[in-house]
Amino acid sequence: MNLSGRRILVIGGSSGIGLAAARQLAARGADVTVLGRDPDRLEAAVASIGAGASGRPLDVLDREAMAAAFAELAPFDVLINAATGGERAVGPFMNMDLDGFQGSFRKLWGYTNSVRLGASYLPEDGCIVLVSGSPARKCRPGMAAISTVGNAVEGFVRAVAPELAPRRINVVSPGVIDTPMFGGDGDDRQRFFERATADNLIPRAGTPDEVAAAIVFAVENDFVTGTTIDVDGGALLP
Ligand SMILES: NC(=O)c1ccc[n+]([C@@H]2O[C@H](COP(=O)([O-])OP(=O)(O)OC[C@H]3O[C@@H](n4cnc5c(N)ncnc54)[C@H](OP(=O)(O)O)[C@@H]3O)[C@@H](O)[C@H]2O)c1
Repeated sequence: MNLSGRRILVIGGSSGIGLAAARQLAARGADVTVLGRDPDRLEAAVASIGAGASGRPLDVLDREAMAAAFAELAPFDVLINAATGGERAVGPFMNMDLDGFQGSFRKLWGYTNSVRLGASYLPEDGCIVLVSGSPARKCRPGMAAISTVGNAVEGFVRAVAPELAPRRINVVSPGVIDTPMFGGDGDDRQRFFERATADNLIPRAGTPDEVAAAIVFAVENDFVTGTTIDVDGGALLP
């Protein structure tokens, strides 16, 4: 797909991986709209993406609002959903508050809502990109909820790809990436990233741009569908 003049919606495009993807897609000539809950973050994101970008408030868990947003923003060629959906539950499953475990699935519901409500607007050469995460296939201690949700996202993409064809759908799976999703600052934040990536083949946190490059690849390559693209510094290997 040649991105010049294409209309692209990036849900979760006001921060981190989604914002980096929005910037890279806009730099290739796409007309990008970023969506998220916080209007101030959207405004700052639009300013940083530059000419042609726009923002629209949306909570991915509000299906009615999402249907209205898609109807208003159509036609569009590409739908990217990189929204976290809300908080994630971390810790051993056997000690986990089950409401917290279930709450981690907000990410999946945000993704399924957007595919169900958005795919029919896409042209035949259009595509969708979602984001899972390396814990889906290598669950470290304390990551049971995140791992389960990531598996669900990857399984969902494989399940719906045949229904959506010839429209394409793919998922990008990041390892530990230095984004605002992680709190903390200064040395504490740096130490967290060092600990979290120490066993990886490339022992550092990835950048949002490194993941965004894979999202752009999934959009541009018309022969890629129903698959998962890992951008994780080798996190899956022993
Ligand atoms: N960073 C990592 O290490 C990492 C690793 C593996 C997977 N991932 C996945 O990568 C994706 C992007 O994460 P990130 O690190 O870029 O996170 P981030 O910097 O925190 O950005 C999250 C984005 O999602 C939006 N968002 C969250 N909940 C939303 C909702 N209910 N409705 C609409 N928008 C919502 C946020 O905007 P508002 O808060 O204003 O709504 C923001 O734009 C997520 O699916 C995450 O699980 C990240």
